[in-house]
Amino acid sequence: MTTSQLPSFSAKALAAPAVFFPQYDAPPRYDFDQGMPDPATYPLKDLDACAHKVLAEQGIAACGYFGAAGRSEMIYGYAGLRDSIAAWVGKRDKISLDRNNIMLMNGSAAGLSMIANALVGPGDGAIVESTTFPYMASFLENTGATVLRAAVDGEGMVIADAERRLQEMKERGLTPKLIYTIPTFHVPTGVLMPLARRQQLLDLARRWNVYVVEDNCYNELWYDQPTPPTLLSLEPGGRVIQSDSFSKMLAPGLRTGWVVATPEVAGMIGRMRPDLGVSQFTSHVINAWMAEGRLDAHLQQVRPRYRRKRDVAADALRRHCGGFVKFAVPQGGIFFWLELAPGIDGQKVRETLLREGVACRPGERFAGAAAENGYLRMSFLQVEEEEIERGVALLVEAFAACSR
Ligand SMILES: Cc1ncc(COP(=O)(O)O)c(C=O)c1O
Repeated sequence: MTTSQLPSFSAKALAAPAVFFPQYDAPPRYDFDQGMPDPATYPLKDLDACAHKVLAEQGIAACGYFGAAGRSEMIYGYAGLRDSIAAWVGKRDKISLDRNNIMLMNGSAAGLSMIANALVGPGDGAIVESTTFPYMASFLENTGATVLRAAVDGEGMVIADAERRLQEMKERGLTPKLIYTIPTFHVPTGVLMPLARRQQLLDLARRWNVYVVEDNCYNELWYDQPTPPTLLSLEPGGRVIQSDSFSKMLAPGLRTGWVVATPEVAGMIGRMRPDLGVSQFTSHVINAWMAEGRLDAHLQQVRPRYRRKRDVAADALRRHCGGFVKFAVPQGGIFFWLELAPGIDGQKVRETLLREGVACRPGERFAGAAAENGYLRMSFLQVEEEEIERGVALLVEAFAACSR
């Protein structure tokens, strides 16, 4: 058998994976590519202390497939951490939640994949934003559902366009089932959906009787003023399924995220779990860390640092980019969405940046078939504050060199 015969029927049928790794021989010197927290903020000492505490106090009880709450933890995750998350989200969103509303995930991407598999399939329709988190677009497409994209403007998903897509589904005999949105610091554009638009979106979902999957993983990374109420808080009855994660607030390598849903919907999603659960040990460590009130304190610490980096990047972009690039300053999150002036050859820019050791994510990665190759997504947390200006200058030099 040759390797070309190796992929299974479904592996051949599925859309190409949404993973795109740039070909760097060495790690890029200026990494504007990765959407992660600033590694200097990872609370390594605290996590170390919590890991020791968990081993000393819980020992083997923290190292099984499940703990005292029983086998259901293999589906839903460690009950102690679910209690803590329910209390934390409930307080923020001013709603009443308990552990039965929370399902732990191996990162929120795993949660989104399970949501897609649990809720849609052939004959169903799902809406995503015209540029979006590409993994979720693939998860939805790979179920056999029809995925249509609704335009995004400076306030997020354009409701009238989403409604046109729903209408189109109806005319094509599809069952509209869900709308996936990143309303808070949208990926890749960084746009924040204001309260009025949130209410319009929920109104649309009610009228069409569809679910809304709210990807909330950037919600806490606000730098100017606290974010508007989440969709979940505005519609607590069960129509909104909220996906969230410790990846952007704490560290992505913990691979711990969660879904907030009604117990009934959580049960449906849980049926799709492809493994034997989320790490009990990691969940205990995070719970020990959360129990000491550290999550809010940590967020208060990282926000000013991230705000400074955002401001340094915005300033450098303003000063260097001249006519080559347009951008809006994001009020939170991790990214600038750079619109390149017409006549800049995106492919050539990439080749030049690769040589210069500057990494930046091409816009078409977020746009499905409708390639947006006149854009770059620039993450501003991985590069040291003092290095951002030089990295931005190199970016612009590449734009200038590749301008026709
Ligand atoms: C919008 C969005 N959703 C979900 C994820 C998944 O993150 P994780 O699986 O680490 O929680 C990411 C990661 O980049 C993201 O940008």
